[in-house]
Amino acid sequence: MNKPLPPTGSSLRPDRAHEPVLVTDVVAHLKLTEATFVVDATLGLGGHSAQILDANPQVKVIGIDRDPGALKLASERLASYGSRLTTRHGNFAELLTLIPKAAHGKVDAILMDLGLSSWQLAERGFSFQTEAPLDFRLDPDDERTAADIVNEASEGELADLLYQYGEERRSRRIAKAIVDSAKEAPIDTTQRLAKVIQSAAHRQGRLHPATKSFQALRIAVNDELGSLQRGLAAAEQILAPGGRLLVISFHSLEDRLVKEFINTSKSLRKVNKKVIQASREESQRNPRARSAKLRVAEKASNSKGLADYGRTKRSEAAPSSLRG
Ligand SMILES: C[S@@+](CC[C@H](N)C(=O)[O-])C[C@H]1O[C@@H](n2cnc3c(N)ncnc32)[C@H](O)[C@@H]1O
Repeated sequence: MNKPLPPTGSSLRPDRAHEPVLVTDVVAHLKLTEATFVVDATLGLGGHSAQILDANPQVKVIGIDRDPGALKLASERLASYGSRLTTRHGNFAELLTLIPKAAHGKVDAILMDLGLSSWQLAERGFSFQTEAPLDFRLDPDDERTAADIVNEASEGELADLLYQYGEERRSRRIAKAIVDSAKEAPIDTTQRLAKVIQSAAHRQGRLHPATKSFQALRIAVNDELGSLQRGLAAAEQILAPGGRLLVISFHSLEDRLVKEFINTSKSLRKVNKKVIQASREESQRNPRARSAKLRVAEKASNSKGLADYGRTKRSEAAPSSLRG
């Protein structure tokens, strides 16, 4: 486990690396000895999927990604697994149509590793550190870009969006600066937007003044919270009785939504009392892991839901790194 993934694809450049987080915990909690059919709903570069496929030769994976570029790289990278891996392009919100109907209620495990891969952040214009068109779409087939939002939304709409999705307390000031600036000339690059934000909000602590606003716009452009809500509901439906749902989130808005969904679900029960976080070693090696939170839920093993859960055997794998 945890062996580095061989770069088999010809187009895989070293700077397109992405180190998957919490791999050991993910593989342990998927209960792969019993699970033979896994949906990796956020395939990315296939780091988790490779470890899952290596962990048990019986396992088959369907890998989904909203970004066709990621899907292409992962398919090349994981080609050696042959028919054990199939890929599908799409938003996991549409799991009910992406996964064949015949498999509904038969999926043993579903993994969602939310957010973006490191290479997407660097290469696809999601960062204020590199100059790129102000786009932010994970799927180029989606219509609305970040530039559409900043140039067309009203000051009030923008302020609400920055506050709601970025938890940005200076949202009103930043929204005013954006709208004033867009009147002079459309804001269509990442660095122009970063400069406008910087003119209205100074650095506080370690965070760049544009960090929260960029996060908010990315969430809005990709409807990330709406997709997550629909994806969780669909995952609950397609899981087999006793099947497991694993979700790794990277910010509090996502984590709150996942926690609330599991806590109020009629058929899922949480497997761990505490959220699983990376060890100090992993966080030092891979800074992305610092904010990662893994929640694991299991579907009731009969159709009557949780009422009968007391009678089922709970064979949880021992988590290696439980934190508060
Ligand atoms: C953190 S990366 C996953 C990394 C992957 N686990 C690995 O080990 O390489 C998240 C991936 O999910 C994809 N993604 C984000 N939201 C999605 C959604 N709603 N539906 C499908 N894929 C999504 C992104 O394009 C990205 O490739």
